[in-house]
Amino acid sequence: MAWTRDELLSATGGTIIRDQQNKRFGEIVTDSAKVKKGSVFIALKGERFDGHRFAGEAARRGAACVIVHQDVRRSVMRDAMVVRVPDTLRALGDLAHFRRHKLAPKVLAITGSNGKTTTKEMTAAILERASIAGQSLRGKVLKTHGNFNNLVGLPLTLLRLHKHHQVAVVELGTNRPGEIRRLCEIADPDMGIITSVAAAHLEGLDSLAGVAREKGALFRSMRADGAIAVNLEDPWVRRLGERFKGRKITYGQGGQVRIESPRLAAGRGMRFTLCIGRMRSEVRLNFVGRHNLDNAAGAAALAHGFGARLPAIRRGLESAKPFPMRMQVRSWHGIGIINDAYNAIRLRWLRLSKRSPK
Ligand SMILES: Nc1ncnc2c1ncn2[C@@H]1O[C@H](COP(=O)(O)OP(=O)(O)O)[C@@H](O)[C@H]1O
Ligand SMILES: [Mg+2]
Repeated sequence: MAWTRDELLSATGGTIIRDQQNKRFGEIVTDSAKVKKGSVFIALKGERFDGHRFAGEAARRGAACVIVHQDVRRSVMRDAMVVRVPDTLRALGDLAHFRRHKLAPKVLAITGSNGKTTTKEMTAAILERASIAGQSLRGKVLKTHGNFNNLVGLPLTLLRLHKHHQVAVVELGTNRPGEIRRLCEIADPDMGIITSVAAAHLEGLDSLAGVAREKGALFRSMRADGAIAVNLEDPWVRRLGERFKGRKITYGQGGQVRIESPRLAAGRGMRFTLCIGRMRSEVRLNFVGRHNLDNAAGAAALAHGFGARLPAIRRGLESAKPFPMRMQVRSWHGIGIINDAYNAIRLRWLRLSKRSPK
C-alpha cells in the first residue's frame, strides 16, 4: 500500500533533511536487500547490524525514501528523500500504528508467558471460518507470522495490513519491562488475552510478580470499549483480569467457555466437549497436552467474544495444526513420538550463533 509524503511525515514526526520530488512511496522495508523501486527504507540499529550502514545500498536499489536517526552520506542517496527522526525503531512502530488506524481492522492481541503462538494460530483458524454480521471473514484475517512479536515484528506484521483485512490477530512478546505497553500503543487492541503468567524471561522481568506486571500491561492498555478473555485457571491472570472494567469473557473451570471430558483421540490429538454458556459441541483437536486445552479454550473465548458462533469455533479448532516441533505427534513403527523441541533447538542455535569465531 502506498504512502504519501504527508503520511510519512505526520506518522513519524520526522523532518526532511534531503528532499526529492517523489510523491508516492511504497512499502516500508527494514532489510536493504528487500528494497524495491519506490520502497521506504527504515534504518534500524540492532545489536549486530546498523541499518544506517545499508542506507546507500537501499538508495541504489531504488528506495524513494530513507528514514534515519543518524547522519548518512547524502552523496550516495540518489533519488531517495531522507527523513530524520529521533529514533527509527519508534518511527517503525508509529508507521504501523498509523496504518492500523487508517485501515481500521479489529485487532486481537495475544500475550502471555506460554502458548501465545498456539493460541494465535487457533484464533486465526477460527476467525477464517467465522462470519460476523452475516459476512464471512475468510481471507480477511491477518495474523503474525511465526514469532514476529517484538518491537520490530509487531510493526512489520501491522504494516502487512491491506484494505481487505477486517481483523488482525497479533502476538505480543516481551523480555523487558515497558515492551507490552509500547506494543499496545502501536496495536491499540480491541480485544486482548494473557494466556499465562510463568517464570520465563526472569533475567529481564525479575520475578513472577514482575512478569505479571509486564503481561498485565495488555489489560491495563485496553480501551474501555474493548474486551478481554480471562484464563480463570491461572491465578495471576485471574487477578489481572479482575481490575479490568470493560467486557470480559472468562474461560477455564467455572468460566463461560469450558472444556469438559478431554481424552486422547485414537490416532493422534485429543477430543473434548467445548461448552460456551449452555451450548455444547464435540471437538477433535490436532494437538495433545493439557496446556493445549487451555490454549484451545482461550482461542474459543477470544473468538466467541468477537462474535464467532460455536460451529465456526469447532471447525476452526479442528483445522488448526501444531507448528513443527511444538507438541507435534508422529508415529514411528507403531510408537507415538511427541516432538516439543522447538525452544530447546532455538536456545541451542542461539548459543552456537553467539560463539565467537576463533
Ligand atoms: N498454555 C500453556 N501453558 C504452559 N505451557 C505451554 C502452553 N502453551 C504452550 N506451552 C509450551 O510452550 C511451548 C511453546 O508454545 P507456543 O504456543 O509457541 O508459545 P509462545 O508463543 O508463548 O512461545 C509449547 O511447545 C509447550 O511446550
Ligand atoms: Mg511465540
